[in-house]
Amino acid sequence: MPGPFRIAVLASGRGSNLQALIDAIASGALDAQIVGVFSDKPEALALQRAHAAAIPIHAIKPRRFESRAAFDEHLFTCIDELTPDLVVCAGYMRLISPRAVEARRGRLINVHPSLLPAFKGLRTHARAIAAGASVHGASVHYVTPDLDGGPVIAQCELPVHADDDADSLARRVLSREHPLLIATLGLIAAGRIALVDGAVQLDGVPLPIPLQLPANNVFA
Ligand code: GRF
Repeated sequence: MPGPFRIAVLASGRGSNLQALIDAIASGALDAQIVGVFSDKPEALALQRAHAAAIPIHAIKPRRFESRAAFDEHLFTCIDELTPDLVVCAGYMRLISPRAVEARRGRLINVHPSLLPAFKGLRTHARAIAAGASVHGASVHYVTPDLDGGPVIAQCELPVHADDDADSLARRVLSREHPLLIATLGLIAAGRIALVDGAVQLDGVPLPIPLQLPANNVFA
């Protein structure tokens, strides 16, 4: 009998996605184990949340390394020692070098606050409003060397309100982003989602479009 699905988390900041993950595992909503939380920012609130949940934490300062590649080599060597089934970037704000990404194709995912391929990069909520978008949301995708450009697994959509500003929109997106991440991880942990020949498969069948998170937050 294999043990629980092993997740390593990379986080740089507040860690609300990490907290959602911790809570989902604690409540039994997600059958998985967080084997370690890694951060490039020793002061990240995410590390405090992990510590409070008795999860091993690892803060590694990029400045100690001569290059991005050298930092990633060390970081992922530490991660690999924990033999995770999946690495989740949850608010991890550093670019990952192509070599480290390529070595983990299909085992590295990211949560991004926009309906990719729209609004890759930063300040997504302000840019969505400035562009007059009527819908916005979040995506969970496989990480590839193309920043925020890897195959999208699942998304949550919500309307942009006429009186939204970037903060109000960010709050509403975040409240859907958390269940999106948990529900997507549930599918991956159950072995139902895989990256095959560059395309996302659900139950062995390529997904024509990303899954859309239903209102009840459960994928069928
Ligand atoms: C989230 O909006 C996530 O999509 C983005 O950064 C934010 C991190 O939030 N990549 P938190 O640190 O999980 O609270």
